Amino acid sequence: MKQFISVDDVPGVPRLVETALGYKQDPFRDKTLGVNKTLGMIFLNPSLRTRLSTQVAARNLGMEVVVFNIDKEGWALEMNDGAIMSGSTTEHVKEAAAVMGQYFDILSIRTFPGLKNKEEDYTEKYINQFIKYAGVPVVSLESATLHPLQSLTDVITIKERWQQPRKPKVVMTWAPHVKALPQAVPNSFAQWINAWGEADFVITHPKGYELDKKFTGNAPIEYNQDKALEGADFVYVKNWSSYSDYGNIISTDSSWMMSNQKLQHTNEAKVMHCLPVRRNVVIADEVLDGPQSIVIPEAGNRVWAAQAVLSEILKQQQ
Ligand code: CP
Repeated sequence: MKQFISVDDVPGVPRLVETALGYKQDPFRDKTLGVNKTLGMIFLNPSLRTRLSTQVAARNLGMEVVVFNIDKEGWALEMNDGAIMSGSTTEHVKEAAAVMGQYFDILSIRTFPGLKNKEEDYTEKYINQFIKYAGVPVVSLESATLHPLQSLTDVITIKERWQQPRKPKVVMTWAPHVKALPQAVPNSFAQWINAWGEADFVITHPKGYELDKKFTGNAPIEYNQDKALEGADFVYVKNWSSYSDYGNIISTDSSWMMSNQKLQHTNEAKVMHCLPVRRNVVIADEVLDGPQSIVIPEAGNRVWAAQAVLSEILKQQQ
């Protein structure tokens, strides 16, 4: 694996899932793989899970880690090639990424979308500029349209809990939120579940929240949430802003919040969320604190997903 930006960079989802679950059984089995290698972690946006789990994963492989909150501590970056830099930006990504590529063996980066310019966000302009100029493998810590480390984690979390011969029914449901959020997590979840191919996948949301077909593929969309939840084995709850009415909130319907009453439609479904979650807006306390929630072990699996990805890149560098 030369980079990790989307599921398309992965030679095979089942194999990567097995690698991750192997690390969960034996975290230090490759503790020397990354000795004398350094992971740079560049943040243009906040993070708890991605930051900490990826650091733990890198250390399990023997890597050094450097974290740089470039949005707060670095020079203001210019992302446009050919820009006349007479405004607020101080350093061009051409130099910044290339210099970081001199210091690190793997560069990882978090860069959220602006949610103002759909074309700029959906061409992944920011992360692609880093890929273009860094000269070392780049790992996405969540980009404008995708969050692959989260999605690999989510597949692992479903896989380790499902031993039956039939495919699990996995329902991804929109839920309300007070802020306009990116489509990265639901895009990526859909992309990975489709590529994995071992689930019956259904998406439910109010009209107007359709995601880019590039990611959802042939997954059926059911606009009636209760109907979609019928017989679900896993419920993946997430808010996102509109893709068609780009970046806007077009519904605040609180009846879409996940509650125990909603879960009665399911096959005692396990409830997943990438976190952070706004309690009693997105998911009710009774669900998050109840027996069907697996959000904490899901977040724990972030370590094994990151470790699997870093190990694949390190093996390529040997
Ligand atoms: N799920 C997730 O990516 O969490 P953080 O934003 O805290 O990293």
